[in-house]
Order: sequence, then structure tokens, then C-alpha cells
Amino acid sequence: MKQSERGDAAQPATFGPGGPLKGRAAVPGDKSISHRALMFAAMAAGRSRIEGLSEGGDVRATAEALGAMGVGIARRLGGWDVDGVGAGALLQPARALDMGNSGTSTRLLMGLVATHPIAATFIGDESLCRRPMDRVIAPLSRLGADVAASAGGRLPLTLRGLSGAVATEFRLAVASAQVKSALLLAGLNASGTTRVIEPVPTRDHTERMLKAFGADIETGAMEDGERLVSLKGEAELTPRIVAVPADPSSAAFLIVAALIVPGSEIRLDGVGVNPTRIGLFETLRAMGADLTFENPRDLGGEPVADIIVRHSPLEAVDVPPEVVPAMIDEFPIFFVAAAFARGESRARGLAELRVKESDRIAAMARGLRAIGAKVEEAEDGLAIEGSGGDPLPGGATVASELDHRIAMSFAVAGLHCRQPLTVDDMTPVETSFPGFTATLRALAAA
Ligand code: S3P
Repeated sequence: MKQSERGDAAQPATFGPGGPLKGRAAVPGDKSISHRALMFAAMAAGRSRIEGLSEGGDVRATAEALGAMGVGIARRLGGWDVDGVGAGALLQPARALDMGNSGTSTRLLMGLVATHPIAATFIGDESLCRRPMDRVIAPLSRLGADVAASAGGRLPLTLRGLSGAVATEFRLAVASAQVKSALLLAGLNASGTTRVIEPVPTRDHTERMLKAFGADIETGAMEDGERLVSLKGEAELTPRIVAVPADPSSAAFLIVAALIVPGSEIRLDGVGVNPTRIGLFETLRAMGADLTFENPRDLGGEPVADIIVRHSPLEAVDVPPEVVPAMIDEFPIFFVAAAFARGESRARGLAELRVKESDRIAAMARGLRAIGAKVEEAEDGLAIEGSGGDPLPGGATVASELDHRIAMSFAVAGLHCRQPLTVDDMTPVETSFPGFTATLRALAAA
């Protein structure tokens, strides 16, 4: 059996045409919110409770790392109890922290460690060791953290933090919620006020959840569309109950599957619809998607809704640049939707996609061409001539490249191909959506 680059046995899987998708499906807890729930609960002294936590590999990497630094984390009665230590009280880990495939775990935990008097070594899989960490190393060094990284500012790296750091102001060069959150996590145990200015608004889960945990945090719009977040340091967070919404980024795969397979109609309950995350849903609607939100409500400071989606003929679209941050993780599956739309869709300004779990521009261009789509690749985006709703030829094997979202995107594409396609390895999907293949097959068999 072929070994995946991760070292486990690769799991190839074949996806082909079948019936329409019908019924309801459960979508895992939001990955971004889950990482933060664990970290903020760790920084609150006392027991917090988390319901709906993502149990994928990425969030498990965060939980295990926090456990290695003295935080008690246990699954009980279908939820998670976290015995937090309080800001400043993480312990020296006895072993390297294995981040697996997770960039969010790595960057956010680096922020947390930076203002603790401990040293942590971060290791990860082949995909993670290719990803740039200089975007957090540089600002955390300004706070006094000492980082010894591999060539190019990459993992493995060792970060030595310090207590008594003095808070400062950071202006982010890249629009990145991970960097913003890393600096705010560092700021929790610094003296004074941390100010982070982001060039354009990115996902705001950190700000919402820190407020709910009792932190003194303020946000405001600045001139030129910039956004300022101010956090008072030496924070004393209060333990609480956190309910995690279903992940819109995971729901996205099932939604596009229902849109492209004729006759489909599915319902996904309790999905996060935070405005900083739903760029794909807005773009799909602009393409003609029949996608509605029912029962909009608040879940612990995050907006959620039940999503109903029906098969729809899709028209091509040019993705407006201002929508890009709110759909940054959804471009692989957006490209699949575009490949079945009528006309040429274009998306540019996507240079960040080249440094995600894989080079997503190259991986999607290669895979889509292999199954018969017409794709033009630019340095920072793709143009795709859609099939007008007809099935694509399919019949190829595509590489998931250690990237869960590439694997799931092609699994969905296979449902509307003339010949089944094979994804060479579905194991990466476990990082964010354990049970994805079974969920997809159950919807198609209903
Ligand atoms: C995330 C932020 C985004 C996103 C990632 C999760 C987060 O990364 O792509 O999947 O939870 O903060 P960047 O901050 O690198 O854009």
C-alpha cells in the first residue's frame, strides 16, 4: 500500500456520478473557533466547558500541546472540560509540540508561548514545515521572544518566551487572522495595551470570544478601511461555557455538492454565518445559487443559521477583491463551483493561497485540468471556463497534496463527472472533517 507523505497509509477513494443529495447532515464544529476556545479556556483560571468542539486532527494538536504545558483537557459527556491555568501560568513542555498539519495551532500557540517564561519546540508534517512563520516570528521578536527557526523562517523551530513583556502596537503587513490572533494571545500576558492594526478586516472570532471571556478588548474602523483591535494586558479571563457553531468552511463542500448535482436539496443546521466567513455563500448567491439561511440566531456571541441549499444552475462570476478575506479558505471549492458554471469565472489577489496547506492555486489548476476543466493559471489566481452545468469528463486520479480542502473539493467534483475520479489520498481530511466521505455518500444515497 502506498504511504501518504504523512507516514500513515494513504487512503485513495473514488467519487463518481450518483443520485441527487438529499436530507440533513451534521457538520463538525468550527475549526477556527475551536482552537480559540481551547486557548482562551486555558488562559482562564478554573474550569471551562466547550460544546461542539471540532475533533479533527488540527484541534487535537492544539489540545495536546496545551496539555503538555499543564492545561487539563478531558472529554466528558459529549463535550470538553478545560481546567485553565490563567494567563502567564503555562508550564515548560517536556517534549516538542507536534502541530501536525495545523498552521493555526502553530501560529496562535507561538503567540501564547511568547509571553510565558518557557521555551517550546514546534514540529509538524511536511506540509506545515513548508509554510512561512516569519509573519509571526518578526512581530513576536519585537516583544522580546527569541526564535531559532529552520531556513526561511520555517518549522521545526524553538521559541523562547519571556514574562514581563511590554505591550506594543503592530501594523500587519499581511491580512491574516492567525497573525492578529497570535499577537492578541501574546498581549494577554503583556503589560499595557496591545494594539493590532489590520489592513482589511479578517475573521473576528478572537475578538468576539475574548470579550465573552471577560477581556478588556475594543475594535474600531480606521481611515482607509484599516481596523484597530486594542487589548488590555495582564488579563484575568473568567472560565465559561462555550458553544461552537458548525464550521461554514466544512459546510461549503456539502453546499457546493448540492448545487452542482441536479435534483439535490439539503439542510445543514447551526452553521456559523459570521460576516467575516461567508464570502463564499455570498459569491454563490451572486452566481444564482438557491441558498437560504433559516432561524438566524446567536450562539455564544457568534451568528448561526440553518442553511438550506437546492441544486441551481450557476452563472460565472468575477470575485470582487474585497470579498477575498471572507472566503480565503473556500477558493478550492469555489473553483469547483466555477468549473460547472456558465461562462468564465475569475478570481485574483489570491497570492496567500500558494502558502496554505498546499499551493492551492497550482493544486486546483492541475486537478481541474486532469478532469477536463478549462483553467488558466496566474501568479495570484485562476480563470475557469465552466461547463455550463454539464458533467466534466472526470476519469483521472488527482493528488490531494496533504491538503484536506483539495481532497474534499475533488471528492465533490467527482459527483458530477461522466467517469468517476480518484482522490489519491483522503487521510488529510481527518484534520478538519472526520467522516466527510461517509457524510457525502449518505447524502447521495438518501
Ligand atoms: C485562520 C485564518 C486564516 C485561515 C485559516 C484559519 C484562523 O489563515 O486560512 O484556515 O483560524 O485564524 P490566515 O490568517 O493565514 O489568513
